[in-house]
Parts: sequence; C-alpha cells; structure tokens
Amino acid sequence: MAVSSAPGKVYLFGEHAVVYGEPAVPCAIELRARVDVEQRADSKLRVHAEDLSLDGFTVEYAGEPEGRPDVDVSESLLNAAMGYVDSAIEQVRSVTGEDDVGFDVTIESDIPLGAGLGSSAAVAVAAIDAGTRELGTTLEIDDLAERAYRTEHEVQGGQASRADTFCSATGGAVRVEGDDCRSLEAPELPIVIGFDGGAGDTGELVAGVRGLREEYDFAADTVEAIGDIVRRGEDALAAGDIEELGRLMDFNHGLLSALGVSSRTLDSMVWAARDAGAMGAKLTGAGGGGCIVSLDDTNETETALSYTPGCEDAFRAELAETGVA
Ligand code: MEV
Repeated sequence: MAVSSAPGKVYLFGEHAVVYGEPAVPCAIELRARVDVEQRADSKLRVHAEDLSLDGFTVEYAGEPEGRPDVDVSESLLNAAMGYVDSAIEQVRSVTGEDDVGFDVTIESDIPLGAGLGSSAAVAVAAIDAGTRELGTTLEIDDLAERAYRTEHEVQGGQASRADTFCSATGGAVRVEGDDCRSLEAPELPIVIGFDGGAGDTGELVAGVRGLREEYDFAADTVEAIGDIVRRGEDALAAGDIEELGRLMDFNHGLLSALGVSSRTLDSMVWAARDAGAMGAKLTGAGGGGCIVSLDDTNETETALSYTPGCEDAFRAELAETGVA
C-alpha cells in the first residue's frame, strides 16, 4: 500500500481571474487530505472516503452510481468528489501504461469539500502520488502537479487553472499565471478562516464568470482589475506589508462579489471579520458558499466569526511549508 497526503490552500488573491490568464497567489495551509492506494487483483476501483466534509460521512463507492449510499452531501458534490478520484486514477494508469489495473483507494480529509480550501486538488495530488508510487513510479513534482491539473480540468468541464493543484503539490505560497507556476517567499501570515458549512459548485461558478465576461466588457475589465490587485499583492507579500495585503484582499472580495461568486453568508463573515478589526477579508476559492480568509493578529476575528449568523466554524490556519508527502 502507498500513502500520500497533500495540503489544502487559501487564495490570498486571484481566484477566478486566474482561469483567464491573470496571476493568482494561493497559500497552502495545514489542513490535509490523506490518500491510501492499494493495488487490487482485479481491475475495479473501490473508493472509501471519510470526513470529506466537516460534518463527516462515509462513502463506499465501487464505480457504479447505484453503489453509492445516501450521504449528507449533495449528489452533485459527491459526483464531483468521485469524479476527481476516477480521473486521478486514470492519470495513474496513463503514467504506467497499465490500463486495467484496479485499486482500493481510501481518503481521509480535514478539508471541507467544495468550500474553497482546495479539497479536490489535495485529493487529486495525493491520489496520483500514492497511485503511481504503488505501481513503483515516483513522479517529479512538476509532472505530478501537471497531471493533477489535468484531473481538475477534466472534472470542471475544461475550465481550471493550475493554481490549486500546483500549490497543493509544492506547499508554501505560490504564484501562478497561465502555465508559469513558481514558489514565493512569504512572511508568517495571521490567517483566520470562517466556514459557513456550505459549498459551491466550482464548475458552475466558473461558467457563471465566463458568461459575464463574455457578455459585458466591464466584467472582463473586472477580471483584469483582479490581476492588477494580484500584482500589487505580490509586492506587499515581498515587503511583508500585512496591512497592505489586507486592504488588497478587501478590494479583491469586492470585485469577486461584483462577478457574482459571493453569497450572503460569505459577505456576512467578511464584514464580521472587518468589524472585529481584521486587516482584510475575502472569500477564498470558487465561492458561492464555503470559506472566507482574513488576516488578524488578535483573537477578535475568530470570536466575532463564531457569533456571526451563518458561520459554522472559525479557526486559525498555519501556512503549510510541506506540499505532497
Ligand atoms: C477554485 O479553487 C479556483 C478557481 O479559480 C478555479 C480554478 O482556478 O481552477 C475558481
């Protein structure tokens, strides 16, 4: 059996715009998905997953839709999660050329599903790493990240950037612009996350932004303006200027909101964090529900978020220096 784990992430800046070639800066955080892969004697894929949401559920999935039990997540979210595993295993098979090899895959994850913290990227990265190692091959990190990206690209209907998967593979803070992916130096960041217990459908949210961008020039300008914020954000990160990072995060949230990917609870949590004195707050990831990320070096934001209607959990997150391991 081979075991791998990979971290989740928050976006300091640039989600959605990165799909259209603008830069983005995600940071890996110490919440991990762990995947065990064991080769089977037959060609079946059997997936056992626990705690893919913070509510926790167990899935036994043997590759057939009717094999799926009732679980406490939406069918589309479950389909998406299983789609990532199927597609990751296809990547494993294509590396080794063993098309009919079967696997038992077990997933344990601290990362809530579809909540903007990179659960699918972490599962894809860890599954490809564990699966290829189970068959005796160790991929270089760039190759692994590229294959995990292809997994996301396929499951999200051909609309994905390399940001989530590269960040999860390498750990730390990264900058992604098109196919140019690199690590960044980052200061210690006082990250506080608020989670509304919900999730968004990344494929649908990305398609919504694409539609707006095609219909309205000002939506296309908004996407470009997010790119400008990211470039300013990189300077602030390099200078260790956390207050400026916070101001830019606030601005980035406003533009994401204009593109229709925020929600009432995400907005409430963002405002609760700001009112509590956070230096900045924004939604993270695809949006529609899920998590916000804020910067605060006191305990006020966590406390304020925990009293905010709609907020289910508020917690501090450390930057994860280690990517896939
Ligand atoms: C989702 O975590 C981030 C998006 O920018 C999509 C992507 O980059 O693939 C919304």
